[in-house]
Amino acid sequence: MRRKPQHLQVRPLVHRVLFVCLGNICRSPLAEGVFAAVAQAHGLTVHADSAGTGGWHVGRPPDRRSQQIAERHGLDIGRQRARQIEAADFTRFDMILAMDEDNLRELECRKPAPGSRHLGLFLDFAPELGLRSVPDPYYGDLADFEHTYRLVHAASEGLARRLAGL
Ligand code: 4NP
Repeated sequence: MRRKPQHLQVRPLVHRVLFVCLGNICRSPLAEGVFAAVAQAHGLTVHADSAGTGGWHVGRPPDRRSQQIAERHGLDIGRQRARQIEAADFTRFDMILAMDEDNLRELECRKPAPGSRHLGLFLDFAPELGLRSVPDPYYGDLADFEHTYRLVHAASEGLARRLAGL
């Protein structure tokens, strides 16, 4: 079969998105799982991952309450393991999205050099919420984790629509 000249070949575009919170056990694992599912439903090819600015929970699975809420919405996030953000993440991903303003400030400080990667707040993709930060649900109850789900789901829809060019 004759191949098209290289400049006419359509390559599958992979959007590499990293979600960042403090511990990488509550909010960002949920964001990773929800965004991967929403992006797939939009027909997008994505590589979603998550990390924490803190390292206290490295190697642990997501908080059982995040897993429970994910399951309630048909998602299994149990195979994820917490890790800490590292310098290579700033070039490995197209977008790094923080769950709140404290973690965004922390990322700005750790960014190795000024680059063109998008570094911002996840909730900016859901302006209808009127919120910039996903509240930390760690010391809360299951209702707080359900609230986290609603916020990250709305932002996932907004981001997926943006990436799909809608
Ligand atoms: P996350 O929640 O940042 O959404 O994973 C937290 C998890 C653990 C702690 C704080 C927030 N902690 O203090 O251990």
